Amino acid sequence: MRYAGSVSRTPKKVLELLHQLLTRSYSPYSGFAVAAVIKSRSGRLYGGVNVENAAYPLSRCAEQSATLQMVSAGEQEIAEVWVLSRGKQPATPCGGCRQVLSEFAHPETPVHCLSADGSELHTTLGELLPHAFSKQYLDGPDRG
Ligand code: THU
Repeated sequence: MRYAGSVSRTPKKVLELLHQLLTRSYSPYSGFAVAAVIKSRSGRLYGGVNVENAAYPLSRCAEQSATLQMVSAGEQEIAEVWVLSRGKQPATPCGGCRQVLSEFAHPETPVHCLSADGSELHTTLGELLPHAFSKQYLDGPDRG
């Protein structure tokens, strides 16, 4: 993992989309807004925010919202991921989001975590989720 200073390499278009999305987060319970942007293999950008629910466990993370947008649009390959949250430290995708992203990404897929105050953490999905469970394990002898 690599932390960068205040000079962002995030494409302007992605940064603008992230900040716009962050204002749309529905997070009245945690007060923690998160925005995610996924670039698909085609180069299109898909955005998502966290959407919470009064029945707390039904809340949806931003990375999962963005993944659902991409798949619903007919694409199934994640090329790059950005996550933006407020606070000093750039928040990394939670464990569940790492697994959801890994369904459509590769271990080398870059994941950029940004905080609104300008700090950044640049990593890969493989670094965040080593030895991910994947569909290859479903071809075992029990399935028949
Ligand atoms: N959250 C995300 O949207 N993505 C993550 O990877 C971590 C957590 C959201 C879930 C919840 O709405 C809020 O942040 C606080 O946990």
